[in-house]
Amino acid sequence: MKEVVLYILLMLTGKGYTIFRKTYEAHFVSLESSGPEVVDLSKIRFLGRDHRANGTVELMEDLDNHFTISAESFLDPNGDGEYKQLPFSAPIQELCKSMNSYWSYIERSLKYGENTNFPSDTRPCPLPKGTFWFKDVLIDTDAWPTMLPRGYAKGVVKLFKRGKYMGNATVVAHITNIS
Ligand SMILES: *[C@@H]1O[C@H](CO)[C@@H](O)[C@H](O)[C@H]1NC(C)=O
Ligand SMILES: *[C@@H]1O[C@H](CO)[C@@H](O)[C@H](O)[C@H]1NC(C)=O
Repeated sequence: MKEVVLYILLMLTGKGYTIFRKTYEAHFVSLESSGPEVVDLSKIRFLGRDHRANGTVELMEDLDNHFTISAESFLDPNGDGEYKQLPFSAPIQELCKSMNSYWSYIERSLKYGENTNFPSDTRPCPLPKGTFWFKDVLIDTDAWPTMLPRGYAKGVVKLFKRGKYMGNATVVAHITNIS
């Protein structure tokens, strides 16, 4: 009896392992932005074989709820530049609200005091104006969906101030099988 229970447990956990284990990883490819009047992302570089994000981000003013953002996502499965829109998107909403809704996807990549001085642990609203450093940031996919399509995933975030379009940021990450 004991052996049977053990066997079933092994089967179950073994199966669970293949179902729930993540089989992909994600690396930064590029970051492009416009509208540096409010947020300057131009000093972020991707370095090394695994494209760690290094550099600084400057917020020119306090980002309070006069700011709204929207987000859209796209996928280029073959790396030929043919992006198709994905169903994951966020309608225009207040910056802080939006940040709180989606923070879980970024949370594990940023460690306050270790790889950034951006207040990623407390996420104050408004986000205070200032220059924040990022050092050797890798994408941690632990809180991401178990399954994702492979390819180049592009996220486009648009920033508005009192309803006026201020600029966008486009980040591309490469989703690959774990090597
Ligand atoms: C990133 O910058 C830090 C200093 O800010 C440096 O120590 C580190 O080596 C850099 N990473 C890479 C991959 O060059
Ligand atoms: C981002 O802004 C730049 C400059 O205004 C523009 O050329 C580009 O088309 C924008 N990208 C998106 C996805 O809206």
